[in-house]
Formats: sequence, structure tokens, C-alpha cells
Amino acid sequence: MLTLGIETSCDETAAAVVDEHGKVYSDVVHSQIETHAVYGGVVPELASRDHLQNIVPVYRAALEQAGKQLSDIDGIAVTSGPGLSGALLVGVQMAQSLAWARRKPIVGVDHLVGHLLAAFLEHPERDEPAPELPFIALLVSGGHTAIYRVDDTDLSAITELGATRDDAAGEAFDKVAKLLGLGYPGGPVIDRLAAKGDPERIPLAMPMRRQSSLEFSFSGLKTNVARWVESHGPLGDEQRLYDLCASFQRNVVESLLGRTFKAARAQNVGTVVLAGGVAANRGLRERAAELGARYGIRIVVPHRAHCTDNAAMIAFAGCLRLKRGEDQSGRLAMSPHTALERVTRKGKGPR
Ligand code: KG4
Ligand code: ZN
Repeated sequence: MLTLGIETSCDETAAAVVDEHGKVYSDVVHSQIETHAVYGGVVPELASRDHLQNIVPVYRAALEQAGKQLSDIDGIAVTSGPGLSGALLVGVQMAQSLAWARRKPIVGVDHLVGHLLAAFLEHPERDEPAPELPFIALLVSGGHTAIYRVDDTDLSAITELGATRDDAAGEAFDKVAKLLGLGYPGGPVIDRLAAKGDPERIPLAMPMRRQSSLEFSFSGLKTNVARWVESHGPLGDEQRLYDLCASFQRNVVESLLGRTFKAARAQNVGTVVLAGGVAANRGLRERAAELGARYGIRIVVPHRAHCTDNAAMIAFAGCLRLKRGEDQSGRLAMSPHTALERVTRKGKGPR
């Protein structure tokens, strides 16, 4: 079932054509990073305008790259939340117009479910079988950080086991990078600089060290970095900057993976999936592979291009639902909140 996916929840305008096996026919992403970098973060109003300018060319490029026409497409999937309202609206309107004009079925996809299912997508540089169900997923993005148990690809079969009490992991990377004058987005820069540093040279707090829950907290670590910079003066010495990035990244990674592996072992689940923008982090990927080998747990990580925002993951998540006959034509609701949150916050399943 060929599905056109559209994603405009934040600062990427994306469209892709994917089928139910995770085969990716096209995958187009227009990033707005340059627009927002000067402001040190995403400016919602500018994001909406940029989406409006780019949605049609991005959609056309996705069909062209796939070698398809709209008439070849069986259904449409669009991110309907969570995200910036004005930004979401551009993608939803585009998708609804296409669906209405060509009488195609359409579904609104939870952006987080898209991230959780990205590990099923094929990529020419990645030769890995799809994860087996059930799996434990660590979802780490700019807006969310949580551990889920995924029993099936359906929304109702996904249970949140723990989440962050304050900042998301990506947000912590971005805020620390801003504090260190490294620009936006901070994750990729810190990732690069951390590789040249020694995490042992600058001791920073390990988040929630004494807490046994599956919750996270990164605001203390962020404050710790700010205090360190205040008391040690400007980071003139490059090596000190590398060491600080290495120490910060190591502590975030240990906190994330410690709880994820704890969840996998407590739930007796043999597969761990990493998802979301922060899952592109090299330190996180390497350490997960090490711990996976130690505990005999399979680690499945999407290609880095499918960790950060993209429309292929939305197309895939939507495709599975379209295949089951779902169709929200004429009644697709947009939501700044996540449908996944509404399901999991009911306290269903194991905690
Ligand atoms: O999933 P995503 O593209 O967008 C959201 O849904 O939020 O995630 C973006 C976040 C940003 O905070 C960015 O700094 C972070 O992912 N990120 C990284 C890396 N690449 C992107 N964080 C750490 N290391 C990276 N290599
Ligand atoms: Zn995302």
C-alpha cells in the first residue's frame, strides 16, 4: 500500500512515499535550521511561513523521487500532533486538500508514534532486520524523552514506562550548547566536540543518581554546566570545551541508557529500539551497542536520517493504519498534544 507521508510539526518540511514493508520510495526533507539558527531556537511564526513556502515543492519532489504520480498513491498520512499549531496546520491542510481532491483515504499520525516506528524503515546504508515485538523504546527528541514498551504497532499497544520530569534530552543538549555559545541545534555540535574530549576531566552531576524510578531529569545537569562555566571563567581553552561536552554527553547517555536497560530487564524484553533526534548521537549509539552486547539485548537503531524528523516514519505509521481500513477523511483533528500521551497517561499497562 503506497502511502504519501507529510510532516511539518516543527522546523522540517518533509514528504515521503513508503509502503507497509518499510520500503522507502522517496524521502525529502527541507530543513529550516538556517532560518532559526540566528535566534538560537525555533521561532514558530517563521516556521509556519517557511512550511507554507516549501510544502508544495517538497511534496512534488517526493513524488518525483519515487517515480510516482498522486494517482499511484493509495493513501495519505500526515502528522496531526504534537507540534507547533501553525506549522502542523500547513501539513494538515496540504494533506487534506490532496485527499479531498483525489478521494484518497487519510489518517492523522502522532509524531511520537512515527519516531517509535522509524526502526522499521529501510535505508540503503542500513542492512538490519526490523525489530521484533515486543520491544522497549527509548524516545529522545527535542520535545520528548520517555521509555515505552511497544507490544504492537498500534497506538493502544504502546505503554509509557517513564518520562522526563523537566527538560527533554534534546532540549538539554540545545540549552547547554546555547550556554556554551555553540549555536542551534546543539545536539550535533556537542556530539562532535565530545568525541575529542575526556569525560573524566570535568566532574558533573549524574542526573537522578539515587532515584530508582524510570523517570529522567536533566535540568540539574544543565544548571551544573552553567555553574561550572561561571566559576571557571570563559572556555578559552578548546580542550576544556571538549572535556566539558564529553562529560555532559556521557552523563546524559548513562542516565538514558541505565534506565532503558533496567526497563528491558525488568520487563524481560530482549530488544531495545532507540528513536528520535538524540538517537542520532554517536556516543549514545556506541554505548547502547556495548551495553546490548553485555546484557544480551538486541539494539535496533534507525538510520541517523530517520532519527531526526522526517516524513518516511509518518508515512509508515500511517500506512499500517490505512491498511487496516482506517480513514479520517473529513474529520481529521489536529492536536498540539500527543494521542500517545492520552493513551498512556491513563496508567494502562505495567509501570
Ligand atoms: O526528533 P527531532 O528531529 O525533533 C523533535 O521531534 O524534537 O529532534 C531534534 C533534537 C534537537 O534537540 C537536536 O539537538 C537533537 O535532536 N539532536 C541530537 C543529535 N542530532 C539531533 N542530539 C544529540 N546528538 C546528536 N547527534
Ligand atoms: Zn521529532
